[in-house]
Amino acid sequence: MKKSGQVASVFFFILTTMLMSNAWSAQEGTLSTGQVWKDGAEIYTKVCAYCHETNVGPQILNRQLPAVYVRAIVRNGNRAMPPFRASEIDDESLEKLTNFISHKTSQH
Ligand code: HEC
Repeated sequence: MKKSGQVASVFFFILTTMLMSNAWSAQEGTLSTGQVWKDGAEIYTKVCAYCHETNVGPQILNRQLPAVYVRAIVRNGNRAMPPFRASEIDDESLEKLTNFISHKTSQH
């Protein structure tokens, strides 16, 4: 009883915050400018693995997929695979990511 009351008030708080401060667009602003990726492995683990390590998408590591191909899929998407814009993964980070994916086997 107490717990569900807490959940409800947290939810209400989030809802009011969203409505009052237009949190959605504020959050998107933070995402597009504030995100700095450390390296390709980090992007893979935090973004791609969500689908590609869970059988939602096909395995992409250790397949020697050409970097150009990976980059094209990431930018354009492909059927169920969502596209990622430069505001989400900038060009430099995408370069690191495609290198990471293409050369995975040689890194062990
Ligand atoms: C929301 C789930 C999802 C996320 C997140 C995701 N993918 Fe995918 N990806 C898919 C699915 C599903 C497919 C298969 C698409 C199809 O063929 O219909 C796919 C296909 C691909 C392919 C083509 C594989 C092949 O066998 O030809 C590549 C390359 C790829 N993804 C790279 C990435 C990279 C790199 C990331 C991280 C930036 C990523 N994906 C994030 C769902 C996802």
